Amino acid sequence: TRIEKAGHRHFMAKEIHEQPQTLSDVIAAFTDGDRIAPPTDFDFASVARVQMVACGTGYIACMVGKYWFEALARLPVEVDIASEYRYREGPVGKDTAALFLSQSGETADTLAALRYAKGRAHAVLSVVNVAESSIAREADVAWPITAGVEIGVASTKAFVNQLAILLVLAIRAGVQRGTIDTAREAELVSGLKLLPGIVSQALALEDRCEDLASRLAEATDILFLGRGPMYPMAHEGALKLKEISYIHAEAYASGELKHGPIALVDRSLPVVVFAPMDPLFDKTVSNMQEVMAREGQVLLVTDADGAAQASAGVWEVLVMPKVDPVFAPILYALPAQLLAYHTAVHKGTDVDQPRNLAKSVTVE
Ligand code: G6P
Repeated sequence: TRIEKAGHRHFMAKEIHEQPQTLSDVIAAFTDGDRIAPPTDFDFASVARVQMVACGTGYIACMVGKYWFEALARLPVEVDIASEYRYREGPVGKDTAALFLSQSGETADTLAALRYAKGRAHAVLSVVNVAESSIAREADVAWPITAGVEIGVASTKAFVNQLAILLVLAIRAGVQRGTIDTAREAELVSGLKLLPGIVSQALALEDRCEDLASRLAEATDILFLGRGPMYPMAHEGALKLKEISYIHAEAYASGELKHGPIALVDRSLPVVVFAPMDPLFDKTVSNMQEVMAREGQVLLVTDADGAAQASAGVWEVLVMPKVDPVFAPILYALPAQLLAYHTAVHKGTDVDQPRNLAKSVTVE
């Protein structure tokens, strides 16, 4: 069947706007009442660690997954880029679950990495959007991303659903490993079910993002900062922006600013800071102030509490809906996407088919 843009200018815009629905679909597929219930269960109490492997934006989802699995289930996670993992030929023990994450299920490096882990790891798990793909077929378990067909080269709804699946699996692992009790599980599941509505509220910030993007479009370099799970989200912001707007962007962990990128800061550098109000907020704000002291132009992406506390002297503030910090990475994917999308539209690039990139890289 032919997929249409449904009134949107680009597939990417259509796919961004589908997210309340696709997110709600994946949550329904992985929950049952107030419990987490993945379509296929895997016992995370039977392993000592998880090795997550992917390429592109999937790799960033895995970086977020590490924070969730370690915090919620006390299960150590290593994250690897597939092309590094496959050739490093590192030790893979029988105490390790190897998890391969891919929208297409056909990325050559990720498939080769899966074949390396097979027979070595305790189990080969996968999170895949295309159900009939090679990665889904060859893995012991294939969890469906259920995002529907994604056409835009820059992944949006598949990325958000990858995050949602890693979060529900981390909660499931916590239940199995005794770090999450039934009451906390029910609380997390009810929070999850509110998320699609909160994502809709974030979509209502599109005009504001468009306005901010028209200013980002003038920059030649943009720095993204974040701390904790917002550090990988800074990577997502930078990746989306460079893919479709062709503006050079870089992501750094806020705490690492002083070890290099601070040398780049001057009045021509926009610095996007992802900082919802969470236990690390004050730390991130103090890094942000180091940027402002050097005349860097800070765009602070935070919630109303964060804005009330830290707006002074900031170039611009994007006020996001408030959410339990555990869910923030899913919500903050939205400004990453909207800022990149509107910057690209402003620059007039080919948003759905950016130069030199392919939707699925099936050769090395
Ligand atoms: C390409 C796409 C990216 C994607 C990556 C991994 O680079 O342009 O959007 O994240 O491949 O693809 P996969 O299908 O394995 O998730």
